[in-house]
Amino acid sequence: MITVGIIGYGYWGPNLVRNFQAVNGCKVKKVADGRTERLQLLSKNYPNIEGVTSASDIMDDNEIDAVIIATPVFTHYPLAKEALQKGKHVLVEKPLTSSVAEAEELIALADEKGLLLMVDHTFLYTGAVQKMKAVIESGTLGKIKYLDSTRINLGLFQPDINVLWDLAPHDISILNYLIGERPVSVNATGITHTGNGIENIAYLTLNYSSDFIAHFNCSWTSPVKVRMMLIGGDQQMIVFNDLEPTEKIKIYDTGYDHKIDEEEKNRIMVDYRIGDVYVPKVELKEALLGMANDFISCINNKKQPVSNAILGLDVIKVLEASNESIKSGGKEVLINH
Ligand SMILES: NC(=O)c1ccc[n+]([C@@H]2O[C@H](COP(=O)([O-])OP(=O)(O)OC[C@H]3O[C@@H](n4cnc5c(N)ncnc54)[C@H](O)[C@@H]3O)[C@@H](O)[C@H]2O)c1
Repeated sequence: MITVGIIGYGYWGPNLVRNFQAVNGCKVKKVADGRTERLQLLSKNYPNIEGVTSASDIMDDNEIDAVIIATPVFTHYPLAKEALQKGKHVLVEKPLTSSVAEAEELIALADEKGLLLMVDHTFLYTGAVQKMKAVIESGTLGKIKYLDSTRINLGLFQPDINVLWDLAPHDISILNYLIGERPVSVNATGITHTGNGIENIAYLTLNYSSDFIAHFNCSWTSPVKVRMMLIGGDQQMIVFNDLEPTEKIKIYDTGYDHKIDEEEKNRIMVDYRIGDVYVPKVELKEALLGMANDFISCINNKKQPVSNAILGLDVIKVLEASNESIKSGGKEVLINH
């Protein structure tokens, strides 16, 4: 039995409590939140879980094997560091930390202590992403040329992170999971309409050494909610619309061939091919339960999870470079791997 303590019972924490409660071989012993009204809600819903106001109550509890952190991003690093130092396995909500240096330090600390450090990139456990991974690996899309994602709605303005740090971790983690190659650089632009220096609209382009490119459009200020990802291969293309209740993925047997005109060398001749659209069956399971099971099973089996800390670090590398690019008006910023 793995005993866990969860820090943060705000918007996302209750989802973690519900799912970890449902994992076989896992017991949620304590939940910490500084706001007593949240703890009142906890005791109403889960009378058997002890609510505590201080995270140290969880850190210092010798019966707790693993700590789950669902607090604002700037608190991830100090809380995760303390938990690792106290010998606990750690699961951190996305994004892993506020900087590459912090993420690298936590990964080294977890390694040194022989503990599991994991980040919750929930989307990797959805039926849709699992299906896209299988389709890409089957090779039917051909060579993947681009990934383009739009994640916009009238979103909650975050006080401490911009819209890319809030929304793009989903897109970047999916991208890194589906496409083995890592970007060499980014260009990002964004704007704040609130005067506090925190961008509420941002556009991020990831550049690769091959002819693959990725682009994300993230906004908290759209009147409509869009969750749409396109993945283009040179044989077939995927449209992933996460707002569709069941038909989340459509595979278009659509493509094009091009050749250069023999006489006029700078003229490209393009042949379009528009074929069938195929809707594969996507398993509609709760992704967060899959994530929670992966965490507990990896602690027990000393394995690395799908949503591992290295993947989390790669997400932070892109986000950190995007900050620098936005501040310099969209300049290309290289990423060190
Ligand atoms: N995986 C996902 O899809 C997903 C979705 C939403 C949020 N998140 C992530 O979850 C984390 C929390 O987001 P949220 O929207 O729930 O935030 P929130 O502000 O609604 O909740 C955070 C809670 O943590 C508590 N808290 C903060 N510091 C604490 C401390 N030191 N000790 C005890 N309690 C503390 C606050 O009182 C608050 O109730 C963020 O990292 C966010 O990115 C992930």
